[in-house]
Amino acid sequence: MPVTDTATPQTLPLDGQSILELAARSMFHLFSSISQGMFLVDRTGRIVWVNEGYQRFLPALGFSSVDQFLGHMVEDVIHNTQMRRVLETGEPILIDLLTNKAGTFVVSRIPLRDDGGVLIGAIGIVLFDHPETTLQPLISKFARLQRELDDAKRELASQRRTKYTFASFIGSSPAATEIKRQARRAAQSSSPVLLLGETGTGKELLAHAIHAASARSSGPFVSVNIAAVPDTLLEAEFFGVAPGAYTGADRKGRDGKFKLADGGTLFLDEIGDMPANLQAKLLRALQEGEIEPLGSNKLVPFDVRVVAATSRDLSALVREGRFREDLFYRLHVLPLRVPPLRERRGDIPALVEVLGEDLALRNGTPPPELLPDAMALLMGQPWRGNIRELRNVLEQAAMRSDSLAIDATQLARILRETGVEPAAPAAPEPLPAAGDGSAGLLRPLAVQVAELERRAITAVMAAHGGNKLATARQLGISRATLYGRLENPDGN
Ligand SMILES: Nc1ncnc2c1ncn2[C@@H]1O[C@H](COP(=O)(O)OP(=O)(O)OP(=O)(O)O)[C@@H](O)[C@H]1O
Ligand SMILES: [Mg+2]
Repeated sequence: MPVTDTATPQTLPLDGQSILELAARSMFHLFSSISQGMFLVDRTGRIVWVNEGYQRFLPALGFSSVDQFLGHMVEDVIHNTQMRRVLETGEPILIDLLTNKAGTFVVSRIPLRDDGGVLIGAIGIVLFDHPETTLQPLISKFARLQRELDDAKRELASQRRTKYTFASFIGSSPAATEIKRQARRAAQSSSPVLLLGETGTGKELLAHAIHAASARSSGPFVSVNIAAVPDTLLEAEFFGVAPGAYTGADRKGRDGKFKLADGGTLFLDEIGDMPANLQAKLLRALQEGEIEPLGSNKLVPFDVRVVAATSRDLSALVREGRFREDLFYRLHVLPLRVPPLRERRGDIPALVEVLGEDLALRNGTPPPELLPDAMALLMGQPWRGNIRELRNVLEQAAMRSDSLAIDATQLARILRETGVEPAAPAAPEPLPAAGDGSAGLLRPLAVQVAELERRAITAVMAAHGGNKLATARQLGISRATLYGRLENPDGN
């Protein structure tokens, strides 16, 4: 039995034409009631009608009455409109963002046809004005996606660029010069290299540079982060899987990193985290120059130069029996001790410049500029996270400070906010002694005076925790002079 609702006063039409008419009428009413405004253009693009809602946009478009507005060609009065395209193609633009001097709007444009299907005009509908508030979640999601896309594109571009070379390892201090010298020499050899150093000191960067400077530079550089791969998967990751060894996705077999690095360099990062069973297999592979993929009984020769790195105390691990001594010596042929940043504080200004520019490039922001007192503060930090930590602090500084030039007070706040309790600023370097005939004293007087001023200002500023008024008072100069020196430390 058909279900009927006797309470329904009017029955729905059931023939196609009536349904269409009803839907069209309802849609039009819906649009005209929820939309912010509508207008009509004729076949030629001339505005012939606006509804009540649309009238409030007229002042922003430069019109004081409907009469003035009517009769104009649509593109002459509504800048950036796409109405003409709708008239030309006969295709609707169901949803679009329109921005002009009246604001940003979510709009819809629909062609109008007569009974014979001939295009006779088009209707423009402003669905939302101020989409930035009404459509906030959508717009911010869109902005976030756009940002992520930009980041990914930049990341991809930077990965395609030539990898790090020794020139990317910034630093000209004795410690930096020495590690680069040793690494360059290591690049010439084909023995394994072992990079030892605290976290964030640039071991991975040096591994790339060694590869780039070696005879294998045209071959691949392949890295495995041992700490990041679950122990059970490491063997397959290293040596690969023979076809048919497993069922399922790996049925076809898979090349291991040794195979992928053939003819190039294999970077074994966090080697100190290698599980014992794999240590034995790695040792055998290095001794024999052959690997055995999982599930195969064939030995495959490989041609790979190994560079290993760890931030752990590998000798201590050997003493504790957690790292095989024989493997340790196999890798320890060319050990390179990468110095911590606190042993080469003099490199900090150069690092700040390069890292700052790099951050600026990535984030599309101007590089942070550190005033002398802020630089002195940076140079005094212990930098347990080394260059990675310095980079983070600079990134925070660029994001959090409201002015481009960052002083010590601001920086101290940023350090605290990133979880570092600021240590005292570095003491200024001693002035060259008068009697030592040093080249320092043979420079033009203006240069020496500017340098002395800079040091004095840095020291006094640090002593007053970045307070400029107190600094100026103690130095016996006006605040304006102090600001002038801070902005233009070379006095030129
Ligand atoms: N001398 C340097 N010049 C410029 N940038 C550097 C230098 N050393 C390190 N960096 C940068 O510092 C960051 C950390 O370096 P890297 O990843 O090489 O450190 P790591 O020693 O491998 O650290 P971890 O032990 O934590 O893996 C990277 O962004 C790197 O580019
Ligand atoms: Mg690393």
